[in-house]
Amino acid sequence: MLIAQNIHHAFNTQEGPIHVLRGVDLTLSTGESMALTGESGSGKSTLLHILAGLQEPTSGSVSILGTEVTSLSERAKSNLRKTHIGLIFQQFNLVPSLNVSQNISFQSRLNGQFDVEWQEYLLNQLDLSAQKDVFPETLSGGQQQRVAIGRALAAKPSLLLADEPTGNLDEENSEKVLGLMLSLIKDSGSSLLMVTHSRRLASKLGRHEHLRKGVFVKAPVK
Ligand SMILES: Nc1ncnc2c1ncn2[C@@H]1O[C@H](COP(=O)(O)OP(=O)(O)OP(=O)(O)O)[C@@H](O)[C@H]1O
Ligand SMILES: [Mg+2]
Repeated sequence: MLIAQNIHHAFNTQEGPIHVLRGVDLTLSTGESMALTGESGSGKSTLLHILAGLQEPTSGSVSILGTEVTSLSERAKSNLRKTHIGLIFQQFNLVPSLNVSQNISFQSRLNGQFDVEWQEYLLNQLDLSAQKDVFPETLSGGQQQRVAIGRALAAKPSLLLADEPTGNLDEENSEKVLGLMLSLIKDSGSSLLMVTHSRRLASKLGRHEHLRKGVFVKAPVK
């Protein structure tokens, strides 16, 4: 499903380059789930953006479903994302001019995978049925986060990349959201990579990697 090899990434800043990733190797098979932890600023979001083809790595290769992402044109990358990747951004990135239902169905409509029953199920499971006609600006942080999750799940992506999807949710909602994601993985044979600060949630996924000083290390036991 996903193979990333020897990913290096440096951001050029006025103070010089910041080397964030220094040789990350990652393989995720069909149906597999993995938690990614690491201190704030360790490069978790950067890695997710690279895997989704939103950020070009300084060096290294990413292959999704056998396609080498780094060699694709911007248009082809965007098509790959639309068809196969569900990305839950840390900052949600909802479309302000679309209501909750429209935000959730946006990607699935674009790629012809809109399924009204699945949409209703997601609205229900994410406890957003009452808010389906309202616009993102009037929602709480946790509600916006649940819309972002619904949008990523709506198209039943092969690869789900979730950047702290439960960061704004209480324990009960976090469990529910994780359950939703895991059942999608199981039912649709998708793969999940989830960034989380919660060891409890991390322990419920198949694998756990910890990012430190730009590479994966064994998750520290506390
Ligand atoms: N566009 C950018 N330009 C310059 N530096 C950046 C840029 N984006 C991220 N960085 C830097 O790269 C490092 C990693 O950032 P990243 O957002 O990937 O961390 P993170 O592990 O997701 O942190 P958090 O847990 O706080 O979300 C940080 O030092 C950050 O300041
Ligand atoms: Mg981040």
